[in-house]
Amino acid sequence: MSDSTNHSRRSFLKSTAIVAIFASIPTSVKAFYQDVKDFILPKKSILPIKISVNKKVHEIKTDSRSTLLDVLRENLNLTGTKKGCDHGQCGACTVHIDGERALSCLTLAAMVPGKEVTTIEGLSTGDQLHPMQEAFIECDGFQCGYCTPGQIMSAVACVKEGHTNSVEEIKEFMSGNLCRCGAYNGIVESIQKVAAL
Ligand code: FES
Ligand code: FES
Repeated sequence: MSDSTNHSRRSFLKSTAIVAIFASIPTSVKAFYQDVKDFILPKKSILPIKISVNKKVHEIKTDSRSTLLDVLRENLNLTGTKKGCDHGQCGACTVHIDGERALSCLTLAAMVPGKEVTTIEGLSTGDQLHPMQEAFIECDGFQCGYCTPGQIMSAVACVKEGHTNSVEEIKEFMSGNLCRCGAYNGIVESIQKVAAL
């Protein structure tokens, strides 16, 4: 018998055994575990929320478990905020909430009503780019651009927080924003440029 026939026979026997084991679990035990699962897992509930983004109020209905990142991108079509890791590790989703930088992938949309959210789309004034956006262009602060919106939102906050006293300090306070293209030198230079204005 060939290896592949042997393999599929083994897989079949394994899956049959699993089905048999599952079927032998008493219904009362299965019901108990379903109750535990229902208790532990948050339930889906649709919430009406009022959310102010870039000084515009939106009234939407969303799953109470939706992240701010998903609501920005999927409900409000503000796709400038990027989804990188979706786990708080890359900084691509950085926005400002009441002027402070925040990771929108780790923020529930239900947490922001009553607060002002600013995304990269809200940073410029009409056709006039924010000085940090101009500095990124002038200093070559991006290559593919995927991390750039998050980098710029963090960079603006970094200057506002006053963490620009040295290259090391800038690097430390920008360390939550990863750039797979390695545009770090241009990013630091952009921040220095804006900090010196
Ligand atoms: S997408 Fe939020 S930190 Fe990576
Ligand atoms: S510019 Fe490409 S990931 Fe940063």
